[in-house]
Amino acid sequence: MKKCFSTRITNKVIPLCFVALIPLYKVSAQTKSEDAKMNTYVTGLMSKMTLDEKIGQLNLVTIGAATTGSVVNKGVEEKIKNGAIGGVFGIWGADQVKQIQDLAVKNSRLHIPLIFGLDVIHGHRTIFPIPLGLSASWDMDLIKRSAQIAAKEATAEGLNWVYSPMVDIARDPRWGRISEGSGEDPWYGSQVAKAMVQGYQGSSMKNADAVMACVKHFALYGGAEAGREYNTVDMSRIKMYQDYLPPYKAAVDAGAGSFMSSFNTVDGVPATGNQWLLTDVLRKQWGFKGFVVSDYTAVNEMTAHGLGDLQTVSALALKAGLDMDMVGEGFLTTLKKSLTAGKVTQQEIDLACRRVLEAKYKLGLFDNPYKSIDASREAKDVLTAENRTEARNITKHSFVLLKNSNQTLPLKKAGSIALVGPLANNQRDMLGTWVVAGDWQKSISVMQGIKDVVGDGVIINYAKGANITEDSLFIQRLNFFGQQMVTVDPKPADELLKEAVEAAKKSDVIVAVVGESQSMSGESSSRSDIDIPESQKNMLKELAKLGKPLVIVLFNGRPLTLTWEDKHASAILEVWAPGTEAGNAVADVLFGDYNPAGKITATFPRSVGQIPIYYNHKNTGRPYTSGPSKFKSNYLDISNDPLYPFGFGLSYTTFSYTDVKLNKTTLKGNENLTATVTITNTGKYAGEEVVQLYISDPVASISRSVKELKDFKKISLQPGEQKEVSFTISPDELKFYNSQLKYDWEPGKFIIQIGTNSSDTHNASVQWNK
Ligand code: BGC
Repeated sequence: MKKCFSTRITNKVIPLCFVALIPLYKVSAQTKSEDAKMNTYVTGLMSKMTLDEKIGQLNLVTIGAATTGSVVNKGVEEKIKNGAIGGVFGIWGADQVKQIQDLAVKNSRLHIPLIFGLDVIHGHRTIFPIPLGLSASWDMDLIKRSAQIAAKEATAEGLNWVYSPMVDIARDPRWGRISEGSGEDPWYGSQVAKAMVQGYQGSSMKNADAVMACVKHFALYGGAEAGREYNTVDMSRIKMYQDYLPPYKAAVDAGAGSFMSSFNTVDGVPATGNQWLLTDVLRKQWGFKGFVVSDYTAVNEMTAHGLGDLQTVSALALKAGLDMDMVGEGFLTTLKKSLTAGKVTQQEIDLACRRVLEAKYKLGLFDNPYKSIDASREAKDVLTAENRTEARNITKHSFVLLKNSNQTLPLKKAGSIALVGPLANNQRDMLGTWVVAGDWQKSISVMQGIKDVVGDGVIINYAKGANITEDSLFIQRLNFFGQQMVTVDPKPADELLKEAVEAAKKSDVIVAVVGESQSMSGESSSRSDIDIPESQKNMLKELAKLGKPLVIVLFNGRPLTLTWEDKHASAILEVWAPGTEAGNAVADVLFGDYNPAGKITATFPRSVGQIPIYYNHKNTGRPYTSGPSKFKSNYLDISNDPLYPFGFGLSYTTFSYTDVKLNKTTLKGNENLTATVTITNTGKYAGEEVVQLYISDPVASISRSVKELKDFKKISLQPGEQKEVSFTISPDELKFYNSQLKYDWEPGKFIIQIGTNSSDTHNASVQWNK
């Protein structure tokens, strides 16, 4: 039965079920009239603007609190007063933002408000798991909720624009920014992109607690060769459309207000000056109506890419469809000259200016430039107990149980634990990359979380055991910005190790909290070796010799190579970089107050030599078969199989799947297929399971991926309980881009696969005719 909720519009209470019945033409008429109002307003404003003021709107500067490049803008105050700046990023806080907004609104000729941006990536003050971790929850409501909370906190501190979601598909864990996205799969990445945009922007960007999303990095940034940061990207158009572009498109469809161009080249042309990408694909093919900002000094960097001097590349970027120039001031300093020289047109400058002003209009800044500048909200909406409680819940949903032999986990709330490792009593590294306004001193360490959850019931024998790394060059790089992100203990390494072994000897179970520190992933943090660093691994090896249950709690911003750990540890709990509530959430899961249900969204390789490795690869003409073989697509020294496949994750309980039942085995045209499995909780704990649907298309006009994720459902089951899970499949799920880049499906046989991860499925086949 359809439910009716009430909504209050002016003084009338209108049941929402009637609102839903308002004919579509009326809704679009409403949007049209809103657009018309915006057009009239912006046209009126632009008619008063000088050329310099128009170019000024295209200039985005940073005041310097959080930067990723060497440039910080100078003379910002004067420029704002002169109308030479359209937006500011890198500051937050109601008072600071107000002071700067005052400069624009009270002191510039036309009083045009500024837009205020920040890298709010996985929370603003209350920090959630890094996006790769969040994505492992397979829970769109929770992911959306994390964005809503981030938006509420960010707006309480004067911000209205966030540089998120990062939707770059990444299949190379050497790349440090794999931590900032949702992994390797285009369909799954699209669901997350949509949830994040909806969470940030809410029902209207005019709302006091909504921000404008900025989808990044357009495009293909995650395809950097060799996983090396800022490196060249070169891929076929089919691969772009099929595997890399869908999440950006999903973000456009969800109404994202802005996009950020990426640093890399696309088809040989830097994305920031790539007309095909920014205009033909983004605007003409996908209908994007917002504005595009460059990444940090990306316009200037087109010179190093070999596209010409600053004036040339700035003109190229504007003509390509870039509207706002982040930090580099190429637009500000050269566009006027280019106009005089006939290298750009007045219409091109006007169009970019119009798009920036429209964004401000959509945010409601012309109605109230101080909309989200409210010191009272700052005091009551930020890092609240409620936000932390929600973060704790969201965080535990992001954890993935990678191994659990002999039901080592959950631990009993009794006896003694050796709590060892450089991340065990650590607050800073709980937060992960991109936590510009996050305060690590507010985060909960694993030690603290365990103490809070088990009280005096458990004896904790703590020892640091090892430094994050002993490699001095690596440490220098990790501490590049002068902060002591990674510190080396004054005690010699063998003494630290001895203490850990002593602690372990007198305990029932060893919990080793190890992995990557905060600055080991994120921007400019590529690694060629993705093992747990040697110092920590040595500690694990010594501990494993004791023959006691060894639980690894693993912190990391990327899939790591865990072949040794998988063989020698009793249990591995993947917790990513979990955020402010880290320790509490870890303790909830270790002691069984919550049964983990996360599944990885990026494949874990056995060895770095297998990279790039992803589940939806092609078959090749000489497909791999397990076991020794010759003249097959394989390696001599390792299997092709990953250590943990996409979609993998265990639970404290077990689930059994029946075979797949189909309601038809032959279909025609636009009929729908229903595929059903029954899942039973065969273990002792209540638990959640992410049931995944994959489809393969074994014969087509092009070589297709061996399988593709098309849907999933997350269910909860009590011990012994059974549930039927059905998926409705339409021909839309069979579509792909063919060699002419036409998106359609081809008739034939399809294999419907349903299972617990991408490698473990139950299959049934259908014949689908046109
Ligand atoms: C990053 C972006 C970020 C920008 C602003 C750049 O270096 O690539 O992701 O939004 O800096 O901080």
